[in-house]
Amino acid sequence: MALLVEKSTSGREYKVKDMSQADFGRLEIELAEVEMPGLMASRTEFGPSQPFRGAKITGSLHMNIQTAVLIETLTALGAEVRWCSSNVFSTQDHAAAAIARDSAGVKAEEEFAKNGTIPDPTSTNNVDFQLVLTIIKASLMTDPLRYTKMKERLVGVSAITGVNRLYQMQANGTLIFPVININNDTFTKKEIDNLYGCRHSLPYGLMTATNFMIAGKVVLVAGYGDVGKGCAASMKQAGARVIVTEDDPTLALQATMEGFQVFPLEDVVSNVDIFVTTTGKKDIIMVDHMLKMKNNAIVCNIGHLDNEIDMHGLKTFPGVKRITIKPQTDRWVFPDTNSGIIVLAEGRLMNLGCATGHPSFVMSCSFTNQVIAQLELWNERSSGKYEKKVYVLPKHLDEKVAALHLGKLGAKLTKLTKDQADYISVPVEGPYKPAHYRY
Ligand code: ADE
Repeated sequence: MALLVEKSTSGREYKVKDMSQADFGRLEIELAEVEMPGLMASRTEFGPSQPFRGAKITGSLHMNIQTAVLIETLTALGAEVRWCSSNVFSTQDHAAAAIARDSAGVKAEEEFAKNGTIPDPTSTNNVDFQLVLTIIKASLMTDPLRYTKMKERLVGVSAITGVNRLYQMQANGTLIFPVININNDTFTKKEIDNLYGCRHSLPYGLMTATNFMIAGKVVLVAGYGDVGKGCAASMKQAGARVIVTEDDPTLALQATMEGFQVFPLEDVVSNVDIFVTTTGKKDIIMVDHMLKMKNNAIVCNIGHLDNEIDMHGLKTFPGVKRITIKPQTDRWVFPDTNSGIIVLAEGRLMNLGCATGHPSFVMSCSFTNQVIAQLELWNERSSGKYEKKVYVLPKHLDEKVAALHLGKLGAKLTKLTKDQADYISVPVEGPYKPAHYRY
């Protein structure tokens, strides 16, 4: 059945849960603005010249308060914006309502993902909105050429999640638009958002979901990339005994140097109280592992998508019983032992499912990258600078984003003399480059 969109008095189309929450959303957006200095500085710097005049920007990302500030930054720069929630559990209805009322077309409809019903693009006669719905329907993996309709008018895409698929499309010649990758090749995303965002939002999600004591517990963090590092650090800070799983010896060594134990999951599964997957890979915690877990062990994922926890194996395990304690907190009880585990956010991102995700400050870094990447693509739309390839955000822009966030924290940069600045002590060429020299 098609989901019909509604229209605001100004003609904007939207589908949100509860428009009466718009005032509440507006108040929280105003709180977040002060915590998002990069976005607000972009409004001050670029707003007066309205660089996005004539641009139509469509996004798909968690429709929450932080994203609302991003959307309104794009509109403050002159864009016409339409948005679509990207995750079944992360929509904040008050944020969606405020945006639908005040700023942009929103498609914040959770039902698509929940019941598999995808709205019919013909439920609207607005061409741009039809495109959004088509994007949802189509799958980059299975049929990239569905997008050829957009080919003629699409200026470019700034991408975080999913950028690896765009690299694949570039490799096999099916990429039909320029892309600026603002994912993990960007310092402010990789080493600021991932690390400090998860350090904040993992405990927030765990406490909101269960409020179980963390101190003294055994927490297993699967993966010691930037997300895993943030998670392990926060659990250690909260007084947990932390075990890391890793298949990369360099990261495993780093984890031990930070004082964490490193073991395969199989070796420790029955001793762990809280399992957190962060790997970005698949099939990390399978139902056979779950059968060996302690009663009421918490199992959750803060990595990419929902591939890390074997929800299918759990749901189809003969005789398993699901007890929903509250939305996104389910106890699953196995028939033979009557012992249960607690799975958060159905194996999807628990920080966004059980809590409201990373804090505004850290999202300001990632979202300022979005604004800068969009501006670059739009400004260069006729120059031929960007071909149908994936590009990384230049290092000086990444640095600019970082610099925009220093003042709010009371930090001041050291200025080098020209002589100091020109002096090169670390070779920048060669097979290994430290993070700062990657670009
Ligand atoms: N990813 C993690 N936290 C987020 C947030 N607060 N907003 C949008 N995307 C996020």
